[in-house]
Amino acid sequence: MTLLHGARVLDPVSRVDETGDIIIKGDRILERGQFDPHGNWDAVYDCRGLAAAPGFIDLHVHFRDPGFTWKEDLHSGARAAAAGGFTTVVCMANTSPPMDRPERVEAFLRRAEGEAIRVLTAGAVTEGLAGRRLAPLRDLAAAGAVSLSDDGNTLQDPALLRRALLEAREAGLPVFLHEEDRAYIGTAGVNEGKVSKMMGLSGARDAAESSLVARDAALSRETGARVHFQHLSARASVEALRRAKEESAPVSAEVTPHHLGLTEDAMLEWGTLAKVNPPLRTERDRRSLIQGIASGLIDCIATDHAPHSAAEKALPFCEAPSGIAGLETAFSAALAALVREGPLSLSELVYRLSAAPAALLGLPGGALAAGAPADITVFDPEEEWLCAAFESKSENSPWKGRPLRGRVKYTFCRGRLVWPAV
Ligand code: DOR
Repeated sequence: MTLLHGARVLDPVSRVDETGDIIIKGDRILERGQFDPHGNWDAVYDCRGLAAAPGFIDLHVHFRDPGFTWKEDLHSGARAAAAGGFTTVVCMANTSPPMDRPERVEAFLRRAEGEAIRVLTAGAVTEGLAGRRLAPLRDLAAAGAVSLSDDGNTLQDPALLRRALLEAREAGLPVFLHEEDRAYIGTAGVNEGKVSKMMGLSGARDAAESSLVARDAALSRETGARVHFQHLSARASVEALRRAKEESAPVSAEVTPHHLGLTEDAMLEWGTLAKVNPPLRTERDRRSLIQGIASGLIDCIATDHAPHSAAEKALPFCEAPSGIAGLETAFSAALAALVREGPLSLSELVYRLSAAPAALLGLPGGALAAGAPADITVFDPEEEWLCAAFESKSENSPWKGRPLRGRVKYTFCRGRLVWPAV
């Protein structure tokens, strides 16, 4: 048996925030309480001064495997996740080939079983993510996909999306939507506004997102199908989400640490490293996202971990791909924006990183009660560190080389220490 000794135990679901010990037996939490660290344990971790939380769960990552494994693969992605305190991740379907056939989902999940953390996948909504014909959604669900998404290949056709929602409802899975209407976008990855003007570009307007949030919330309400809005970036979208929830549409939403912590001004300092879809927007938008997660209107935090190579990010702005590698800095970035400079308690932040995403997909984890899976993240909320090197194969992050505060010290998944890697 393993003892985590003297931690600040944060279990938001059972409203626990107290100093104590956790016993791990096999892949489960056996008991919480006060125990003698000099007893007969297989291993004792001194967690005095640290906090122990349910393992973080990220419903939105890109591991690029198969197809783009020079940017990331299952193994490097899983290590980056563990380093960031994540014990479960859901990979997006935009691999090559994409996850649009059940045998591909099955093969992916078989390979993922070899990883130290729980690596799951979304299934594609349309064949080849092309937005024309529906993928076999029920078969993808039966093969083990936990959500359905074409992610950055936004479903522009409402009739097709409506059919997808009806099938997804039958399949029992929510549809995850990256909402960006191409009609409102000049150059993707930069907000249309002061910074895009300085760059001489017409960027992506916030209406590109909010108009589709409103449209698809209506489809969700009409069909009764669950819709999850990915990485909201704009105040207008938060307002559309508010109206949808007031009208009891079965919708949910996520926000990323980069949209919580950065604005379009980041483009001026970090250029393509801050290029992301949907783009970083204004301080007013950022404040609305913080209020949204503080009130629970926005359900959870997800990273949209989107690794790209240094060579790709060195391309001229319009050619460089969008995306930020976010797993390893997510906790520090969210802690700064939401707790140190924002309105959330540490326990509320932990909830939005663990129990809330677990509940959305009915995943194991999210609690530190006896009998729960021993998926546990131990962190030091105060430690200052320099984000110098990444476990991810890619380092496309505006936080690289910057001092951060709040650091993951140990990650346990299924009762095993998975970070630091042994
Ligand atoms: O910035 C982004 N990058 N947004 C997306 O939706 C896709 C992602 C990627 O796959 O690189």
